[in-house]
Amino acid sequence: MNILVYPHKILKQKARPVENIDGKLQKLIDQMLDTMYLAKGIGLAANQVGVLKQLFVMDITPSGETPEPVTVINPRIIDSYGEEVQDEGCLSVPSYSASIRRPAGVMLEGYDRDGKPIRMEAEGLMARCIQHELDHLYGICFVDRLSSLKKAIFRRKWAKIRQQNG
Ligand code: NI
Repeated sequence: MNILVYPHKILKQKARPVENIDGKLQKLIDQMLDTMYLAKGIGLAANQVGVLKQLFVMDITPSGETPEPVTVINPRIIDSYGEEVQDEGCLSVPSYSASIRRPAGVMLEGYDRDGKPIRMEAEGLMARCIQHELDHLYGICFVDRLSSLKKAIFRRKWAKIRQQNG
């Protein structure tokens, strides 16, 4: 699948809740996972492949280890705590990263690819990835969370990067 690049308008739109978890949706999930692994990413939200459905895939397993794909459908953060500043990147904003402040831990609810309810607590990279992907489903890209000064610097850098990549 083709990964949409910032500032594509679909990246700014809100995804709609999934109503049916069926074979068609599972095929989409498999394609999203393939696309994510191929791009060497750790997370991918449906918006990023042009589908406005509330679902994301992730795998934070270090490369070389057995993959542990996670799919979350209709995700909701029901609790969060702490605060952490870490570098983030995004498959829709290639060749760019910036530090972003976010809660350090989250409690997440949703459904897995078989429609089974999920409830999990996450910290560190996993918590960051969950929040980043959930943002996508609300039309927010991590660069939208930069301060206005940093955003101005990003815009200049991004224009240059896009020019170089044609
Ligand atoms: Ni992203």
